[in-house]
Amino acid sequence: MNMVHLKSVKKKFKLMYISNSYKFLPFWVILGLSVVWGGCYFGYNDKTKRNKEFSPNMYNSIPLEPFVQTVEDTTARNPIFPDGLNAQPAPHGTVPRDSWYVSEAYTPYPFSNTNEGYDSAGQFLTSPLADTSVQGINCSQETFNRGKRIFEVYCIMCHGANGDGKGNLVTSGVFGNVPSYKDPNTLKFLPVGKMFHTLTYGKGIMGSYASQLTPRERWEVICYIQHFQQED
Ligand code: HEC
Repeated sequence: MNMVHLKSVKKKFKLMYISNSYKFLPFWVILGLSVVWGGCYFGYNDKTKRNKEFSPNMYNSIPLEPFVQTVEDTTARNPIFPDGLNAQPAPHGTVPRDSWYVSEAYTPYPFSNTNEGYDSAGQFLTSPLADTSVQGINCSQETFNRGKRIFEVYCIMCHGANGDGKGNLVTSGVFGNVPSYKDPNTLKFLPVGKMFHTLTYGKGIMGSYASQLTPRERWEVICYIQHFQQED
């Protein structure tokens, strides 16, 4: 076989190959598209079910991630817990305690609504807002101001603007016997713990403020009314 002949044979084959591939191009395109479309459609079109994932290890980590694990997912289970989930509900009765600013509504109150609870509160409870001294009271000016605002909204109608127990509801005759914060025989020396206890549970005709004032707000208003105790 001489060189010229080989070259011409090669050329012939090349031409054949190219012409063949173009001839079948629509076939390959249609086949390719139907495989892709069919792959997406058939069997995986049920939107209510989790569908097939391509290369799932890219999404699902091997360690059990608490916020990813689901009850339905039976592949990754924690063998220690009966339901197989890593993230377990908090034990019954758990309340957030990390910061009482965030969770103040849930701060547990340790003293019961009894005379003993009242006395213990007076003995052991101190204000967590105790800070620098304002007018001889152990709290900040900001706390004092907030307490004043709360007093004017919730308490002034009975206890009076001067804390003498002569608010509008008393002078108009709706309520009687509201003691003065300045009276040495009643409230002048009342410890803050007892005030908090009364604000939490109520006392006599004065109702509980537990549902209206958060513990923090109760301590704020206590900061304010303490300045009445120092007046004559
Ligand atoms: C409906 C009228 C009324 C309102 C409103 C009211 N109080 Fe009183 N408060 C009373 C009466 C009456 C007493 C006396 C209760 C007793 O000793 O039986 C009292 C007692 C108190 C005492 C003394 C508690 C103790 O242990 O002896 C404090 C402190 C007090 N009030 C603070 C407040 C604050 C703070 C507010 C507002 C958040 C408020 N009160 C709202 C009527 C009221």
